[in-house]
Amino acid sequence: MNGVSGRMGYRQHLVRSILAIRDQGGVLLADGETRVQVEPILVGRSEKKLAELAAKHGIEHWTTDLDEALADDRWQVYADFLVTKARAKAITKAIAAGKAIYTEKPTAESYAEALELARLAQDAGVKNGVVHDKLYLPGLRKLKRLVDSGFFGQILSVRGEFGYWVFEGDWHPSQRPSWNYRAEDGGGIVVDMFPHWNYVLENTFGRVESVYAKAVTEIAERVDEKGERYTATADDAAYAIFELEGGVTAQLNSSWTTRVNRDELVEFQVDGTLGSAVVGLFGCKIQPRNATPKPVWNPDLADDHDYARDWIEVPTTEEFENGFKTQWEDFIRHVVEDAPNTYDFLAGARGMLLAELGLESSKTGRRIDVPEVTLGSGVDAADAAASGTDEASELTGAR
Ligand SMILES: NC(=O)c1ccc[n+]([C@@H]2O[C@H](COP(=O)([O-])OP(=O)(O)OC[C@H]3O[C@@H](n4cnc5c(N)ncnc54)[C@H](O)[C@@H]3O)[C@@H](O)[C@H]2O)c1
Repeated sequence: MNGVSGRMGYRQHLVRSILAIRDQGGVLLADGETRVQVEPILVGRSEKKLAELAAKHGIEHWTTDLDEALADDRWQVYADFLVTKARAKAITKAIAAGKAIYTEKPTAESYAEALELARLAQDAGVKNGVVHDKLYLPGLRKLKRLVDSGFFGQILSVRGEFGYWVFEGDWHPSQRPSWNYRAEDGGGIVVDMFPHWNYVLENTFGRVESVYAKAVTEIAERVDEKGERYTATADDAAYAIFELEGGVTAQLNSSWTTRVNRDELVEFQVDGTLGSAVVGLFGCKIQPRNATPKPVWNPDLADDHDYARDWIEVPTTEEFENGFKTQWEDFIRHVVEDAPNTYDFLAGARGMLLAELGLESSKTGRRIDVPEVTLGSGVDAADAAASGTDEASELTGAR
């Protein structure tokens, strides 16, 4: 487990996933009886931090030498939670060492690099997985069930709001690491969130076919962990429209510069011919066609209708565990007994392509077609951007 001292590495992957799996006695396999236990080795740059973490959680193994850990056959899975910038190099080594690999998103800093990792993993025959945590959120699981049940009829549009105010770091410490606000260090909200939007949209509604985005740096200067001022070189808000397979329009705002006036930090409204739903991380409420109120626009009269009361909360009918843990269990089953896994490096590359094309759209002010990506497709993001909206976007031989 490389990068366990970080926010995601420690909380979600080590404590909430791997240690929770260890505490429950391992991952239950398909036969419903056999359990596979996990034994982590912590990898990082600071011996002191690793020793402290290991002691705190009763972990036997840790090392500052990644190469040594990769060369050791006892360790079957390489897991990566490093800053994005450091990821591709470490994963490339893990592929060469023949490890199965599970990683945070984005898989690399560029689409070309992300696709290259997918190809290298395929050529080496190593199993690979990328975090798709939002799909495991209770709200999104309920939404998926609504879609699959036909609740919406024809889905027309999706509107999503993600964001909250991230303190600048001057009078109040920031709640996110400062590299998030420096493009040269792999930061930016487009690179951070569009990989999530890509897998949420493609797994819930359909493939993303085009993107129009406006990415902005709204807070120009921030203060880092050491109290030093720095110039924010990366986007901290992005306003985007995605066209999806099947004619659905998705409009998603991502912002670290907005104050929350919603029930949850992320919320999606889905409107369909037969009904609508509003979902968050946990909640999911619906309004069917035949219980829709009849608003009449009248600016002369204050409207005393309580629109919030027109919605029905979808009950929780199954137990939802931490999404990171559930996906870890799925991946371990994939490694151990070849259970299916579609959330692989190629899915990661699609996410990175969407981020790159979003930034390109923002730069040029144009809507950009998103080409289909396969391991053999030789698609280049810059060419995809150059092809614009009216030309065919099938690209070959770019790499
Ligand atoms: N799935 C999600 O919802 C989600 C949320 C936040 C972040 N992330 C992703 O998780 C990754 C880590 O983000 P974080 O917020 O935990 O960051 P973080 O800064 O808290 O942690 C980064 C880790 O990388 C290590 N590191 C930093 N520079 C390094 C270098 N040059 N070489 C080797 N190691 C280095 C740090 O010591 C630390 O362990 C990022 O890729 C980010 O995009 C995912």
